[in-house]
Amino acid sequence: MSTSPGGSPLRPQTNECRLAFDLSGVWLFRLGEDEGDWSGAVPVGVPGSWNDQVPGIRDEFGPAWYERRFELPPGVLPLGGRDAAIRFGSVCYSAEVWLNGQPLGGHVGGHLPFTLACSDALREGENVLVVRVDGRLGRDQVPPGLVLPANTHGRVFHPDVSYDFFPYAGIHRRVDLVVTPLGGIHDVLLVAAADEDGAVVSVTVEAGEGDVTLALDGEPISSPHRVGTSALWSPSSPRLHRLEVELRRGGELVDRYVLQTGIRTVSVAGDQLLLNGEPVQLRGFGRHEDFPVLGRGTVSALGARDLLLMQQTGANSFRTAHYPCDEETLDIADQLGLMVIAETPAVGLYFADDDTPRRQEQVQRSLAEMIARDRNRACVIAWSVANEPRMNHPAAAAALVELCDAARALDGTRPAGYATDLPEAEGVGASDVVFLNAYPGWYRDPGRLDAAGPALADALDRVYERYGKPVVITEFGADALPGSHADPPAMWTEEYQAELIESLLRVAAERTFVVGAHIWAFADFGTAQADHRPASVNFKGVFTRDRQPKLAARRLRELWQK
Ligand code: GCU
Repeated sequence: MSTSPGGSPLRPQTNECRLAFDLSGVWLFRLGEDEGDWSGAVPVGVPGSWNDQVPGIRDEFGPAWYERRFELPPGVLPLGGRDAAIRFGSVCYSAEVWLNGQPLGGHVGGHLPFTLACSDALREGENVLVVRVDGRLGRDQVPPGLVLPANTHGRVFHPDVSYDFFPYAGIHRRVDLVVTPLGGIHDVLLVAAADEDGAVVSVTVEAGEGDVTLALDGEPISSPHRVGTSALWSPSSPRLHRLEVELRRGGELVDRYVLQTGIRTVSVAGDQLLLNGEPVQLRGFGRHEDFPVLGRGTVSALGARDLLLMQQTGANSFRTAHYPCDEETLDIADQLGLMVIAETPAVGLYFADDDTPRRQEQVQRSLAEMIARDRNRACVIAWSVANEPRMNHPAAAAALVELCDAARALDGTRPAGYATDLPEAEGVGASDVVFLNAYPGWYRDPGRLDAAGPALADALDRVYERYGKPVVITEFGADALPGSHADPPAMWTEEYQAELIESLLRVAAERTFVVGAHIWAFADFGTAQADHRPASVNFKGVFTRDRQPKLAARRLRELWQK
């Protein structure tokens, strides 16, 4: 996790030893190269992108400046034996931060948290937090922008992105002032190993001097600890446990951290994906964090709406396309028993220019940050290290192998892979599970509902023959303009989308090595302008952008609820 030296990957929480003071709310905002005067600044909501929030600046990507003035809650100063820091859940794309005029540092890359120490800068009375955010596109970024057509899918977008979603910019998730004990609990790792009657849980605690004690659901435990099958987490029984970690020095409580998590194991056996030792089938969607006005800004109500709709539809999983999702959304997935393929921000990667090494470093950094943040999550069952990388360069395969190996080295308890639309390209073999993106009946055989099924069958059988691994179809589907209908079904209508999805799900269901099917996409989402994106929206959602069901959603509910 990109954090000031000594910064902990643990998510902030408030208890008798720790404070997480939420600074979200109304901040001042202005575009501009230099800080300069705030006279022209406007109030904006944080979390939230600025592009759809502030009228008239949709296609402005910065730099921009944010200011937040706040007073401290009682008891923060003097810090005494404590540390203070500011934690950002996500800033797109890069951030530089000052508190009371003192530089705290910065971060590059969105969708993942960073924490900056501020103990020396804090003061009584009014504190002034200033953030410079730069959302301008660049080739050395992840995901990359301003990419030459030869290194993209060949579609032209404005703004010039190499990926099919709008490059929203801003402070996208909550911001906290965090106060923790010096030499306290730095990190907690919970790992479960399968056992014939349940699982054995090992808890590793990184902490300063002192005695560490553990309790599970209020009962003192020591590590390793055995739990029975009934204690395990699964979609049908998303059992969560309260792991309390305490640190004492000389009998005095110095620090306490509570982890709410489930216990479960995930593994690959032959061509099957196993959850708690049993074959599991993934039914669900690719999901963007996207909503009108908010842009990529997250609010827990949206996460709740989306995941409750998924559950109502009969889905049991989703992929965080194409970047790690918000932590509160993962809380909800843990509680509802929805399984998650967590994906890095590495979409539209290519390997054919001088920026390649810088991009690869950035992907490695994001991958490490994502795994450090989400590795204690029961709901996260697999890592996707990239989406649809361009493989038109000899360095491509080695780069993807390196990323899959890195994911396994960082966390050997979950399968890793990357989503590809080029299943025969070298490199796919590095995936533990083949994540296949395929668009029969849309980009291939457009308008041909009759040809789509056989085309998918052929593609799946060839993938299985080549790798002999479990396959998850991570993308398939069709655009459907809400309210557009035709009989017989025609492209862009709700009927065509519903028919296509149903026929492809049938093909998937006939193959036991297909262990999951994720429809693209859960809901319509904002894109850059393009000739194939009416109103700058991708309409492949089975729900509209304001989360109302299309025909396909109703059909899925009948199919999956059965
Ligand atoms: C790709 C890509 C998605 C995109 C989708 C589409 O496969 O991974 O990001 O939105 O195709 O074109 O609808």
